[in-house]
Amino acid sequence: MSERPLTAMIDAAGPPDCAAYGRAGGWQGLRRALRDLTPEAVIAEVTDSRLRGRGGAGFGTGQKWSFVPRTPAGDQRKYLVANADEMEPGTFKDRILLEGNPLQLIEGMIVAGYAIQAGEGVIFLRGEYHLALDRLTRAIDEARAVGWLGRDIAGSGFDFDIHVHASGGRYICGEETALLTALEGSRAVPRSKPPFPQVGGLWGAPSVVNNVETLCNVPHILANGAAWFRALAIGPDGGTKLFGVSGRVKRPGAWELPMGTPLREIIEEHAGGMRDGYGLRALLPGGASTAFLDGGAIDIAMDYATVEKAGSRLGTGLAILLDDRTCPVGMLRNLEHFFAQESCGWCTPCRDGLPWVERLLDAIEEGRGEDGDLDLLAHHARMIGPMGRTFCAHAPGAIAPLSSGLNLFRAEFEAHLRLGRCPHRHAA
Ligand code: NAI
Repeated sequence: MSERPLTAMIDAAGPPDCAAYGRAGGWQGLRRALRDLTPEAVIAEVTDSRLRGRGGAGFGTGQKWSFVPRTPAGDQRKYLVANADEMEPGTFKDRILLEGNPLQLIEGMIVAGYAIQAGEGVIFLRGEYHLALDRLTRAIDEARAVGWLGRDIAGSGFDFDIHVHASGGRYICGEETALLTALEGSRAVPRSKPPFPQVGGLWGAPSVVNNVETLCNVPHILANGAAWFRALAIGPDGGTKLFGVSGRVKRPGAWELPMGTPLREIIEEHAGGMRDGYGLRALLPGGASTAFLDGGAIDIAMDYATVEKAGSRLGTGLAILLDDRTCPVGMLRNLEHFFAQESCGWCTPCRDGLPWVERLLDAIEEGRGEDGDLDLLAHHARMIGPMGRTFCAHAPGAIAPLSSGLNLFRAEFEAHLRLGRCPHRHAA
């Protein structure tokens, strides 16, 4: 039993085929689920493991599955969707799993499909993940050929198959309801929740949308048990997690570590610490749509509750570091440019508010800022940021780094206005 189950089979030689996957311990979780457990018992085991969604929001996986209406098998169409549309800036963890061991995801999807009694699984894949598409397609074909997909899987009477859908390439497609709309062939506009997908999802049918990393954990929980999974973690959440660091560190990358690993260990040991001549000013702990934490927060544990208590969110668990020689206003301008560009345009505060934010940040960074601009930015943040003003979390996610940045980098913002230029750019 590996202490790094998600990446144990990933190496430079490429992904294992079905036989090699089985020899290395694959298919055990699925065998146990189909042979020994009812769908309800699978959900109970996953709930007990404390697996929380790895896409960013951290919703309890077993709890999510439990919302799907229980109907006799074959009574109603249901879908299991793997969200592989990984587009959060700074986040590249699912790609490692998709390219390195696609069968692990496939096994997790079959178990999840069995748990909610879905007949069909879809992998919604980021359009640019060409290598992943190639490897997933090959793995699905092979799994089907040897009987792990299709009718009556392993003589259990359970039927399940998987298709891959390559995304058209917009960030909003990763939002679960926009993703479902895109799968139905329409423009990827999010839907108002409720109803949540678990009761009214793809084509109106009960559907579960789970992140790739979430699903990759499932075979291991079934093979080794909930208690084993919980014990992998340091803190209150179960399992391991792919944590990562980008920014001016010596070794940017991603590593599978216990959930709850201290941020300092991730940055200093695994990423090798800051590059010579650079200090840690601040960080986004879990991707671009999480709030900034001051560099002094380096001693927090990377679990959901601790990062929230510190004022941000664990998000995807891949941190973006801001060093002390990069302009925070410039970094925020880059981020808000991305979010403004990627708004789907459906909700007014997001469509019209984010370009205003971008324009204000442009002006401040370029030395054209005026008195009152910081108040105006804070006003926009209050108007756009709160959940419930828009259909989805795009605008609140976009505002998280801005609101926190306005507080944390107040002196830098004021210096831009006072000097009429970016102090960082001209200091170099
Ligand atoms: P959310 O909190 O609205 O939902 C999370 C999941 O829990 C969804 O599947 C939802 O259906 C379910 N859920 C939540 N409340 C529920 C309820 N009352 N009843 C039933 N089900 C419920 O968050 P959302 O908008 O799905 O995701 C936002 C997150 O996505 C952010 O935390 C952000 O970090 C992350 N994100 C990740 C990206 C990536 O590339 N991995 C890209 C952009 C954002």
